[in-house]
Amino acid sequence: MAFSPCIAPLVILFLIFGCAARPFYPLPSKVADGTRKPLQTSRPYNLAHRGSNGELPEETAPAYMRAIEEGADFIETDILSSKDGVLICFHDVTLDATTDIYQHKEFAKRKRTYEVQGVNTTGFFPVDFTLKELKSLRVRQRYSFRDQQYNGKFTIITFEEYISIALDATRVVGIYPEIKNPVFINQHVKWPNGKRFEDKFVETLKKYGYKGSYLSKEWLAQPAFIQSFAPTSLVYVSNLTDLPKIFLIDDVTVPTQDTNQSYWEITSDSYFDYIKKYVVGIGPWKDTVVPVENNYLQTPTDLVARAHSHDLQVHPYTYRNENQFLHLNFNQDPYEEYDYWINKIGVDALFTDFTGSLHNYQEWRSLSSNDSDDRASKLLHKIAEMINS
Ligand SMILES: *[C@@H]1O[C@H](CO)[C@@H](O)[C@H](O)[C@H]1NC(C)=O
Ligand SMILES: *[C@@H]1O[C@H](CO)[C@@H](O)[C@H](O)[C@H]1NC(C)=O
Ligand SMILES: *[C@@H]1O[C@H](CO)[C@@H](O)[C@H](O)[C@H]1NC(C)=O
Ligand SMILES: *[C@@H]1O[C@H](CO)[C@@H](O)[C@H](O)[C@H]1NC(C)=O
Repeated sequence: MAFSPCIAPLVILFLIFGCAARPFYPLPSKVADGTRKPLQTSRPYNLAHRGSNGELPEETAPAYMRAIEEGADFIETDILSSKDGVLICFHDVTLDATTDIYQHKEFAKRKRTYEVQGVNTTGFFPVDFTLKELKSLRVRQRYSFRDQQYNGKFTIITFEEYISIALDATRVVGIYPEIKNPVFINQHVKWPNGKRFEDKFVETLKKYGYKGSYLSKEWLAQPAFIQSFAPTSLVYVSNLTDLPKIFLIDDVTVPTQDTNQSYWEITSDSYFDYIKKYVVGIGPWKDTVVPVENNYLQTPTDLVARAHSHDLQVHPYTYRNENQFLHLNFNQDPYEEYDYWINKIGVDALFTDFTGSLHNYQEWRSLSSNDSDDRASKLLHKIAEMINS
């Protein structure tokens, strides 16, 4: 599927980036081969959740470019489909919360109610709009307490446009796309020759050269993780690509959308034994790894230890700087939260809305960490324990 040509109302983006076949980003040919800084693999991955969406409207080109500038190892996205079968980067199953759809009177009659994961949901669904129609909308910041000045400035982008942002970066930046709501998408969108959403998803990755198992030479050249909450989609795509996959795990109250399995079933040792044939890790909500009561962390569960004992990585979501998201143990300091999850819980990657903060934390930590400092702090800890006992 070719990129859609530039559309007249995109005046602002024209001024910034000019208009060409691949309008928004420098061409790969401008990046000298072999000079790209490789992906770092020595510390937990910084996953830019929906781009740098703490600062810019989520899943837009500027949010992804900002995340790359701020040091993301991977840019993360959610893949849905337009009515005409074009894969797009968009989180919600409706357009209502993060676009200006309500200002488009021409679409007022498109409001629908569909059952999504067992819940009747009313709104404007991307699956009822062609790509051209979706491109006429503008994206908004989701949270009222975040910067509103970019509302109405950026478009929804396609999966292919997102990939080109990663490939055109001047260092190696991975992608981390989610097969989002696959049961719903396969119900509402039909592709020629009986192809499924998952087939289109993997076809797109292959078209741009994404292949290879975790840490293989091909993978390190173009790193990618495939993520989904639907285990049957992960099992299905494991027949199509050996790219590493991450099994996302929802809150303890939410059953899987395809197999209707409970949280307890899919986090059991026997299930980990089964799913590890298809995935390299799990992506749990962080509050299920360490339960929270009255906004204070409780004793951590054994989820990370058990996943690691099955050779599964753990990539929890989502880390956010703002006070309303930081549990009180962290004294309103996001660095304390990162320190806890990286050094006490021992996770392998973190989905963050503020890639810049996680990157700064990791850089400063690696500058100041120092064997003799570590020894000194262990000694102090021991002394404190002796005094307490
Ligand atoms: C959704 O609405 C339809 C039509 O009113 C109804 O038949 C169905 O049971 C509802 N589904 C759920 C999950 O509430
Ligand atoms: C994977 O491919 C094999 C061989 O073509 C087939 O027998 C199997 O059913 C496929 N599995 C899935 C989950 O599609
Ligand atoms: C999912 O499982 C629950 C608990 O076993 C059951 O009550 C429910 O009817 C199931 N839902 C579907 C759609 O099969
Ligand atoms: C490492 O620790 C030593 C001894 O405490 C100190 O002199 C040195 O400056 C430290 N290095 C860094 C990079 O912090």
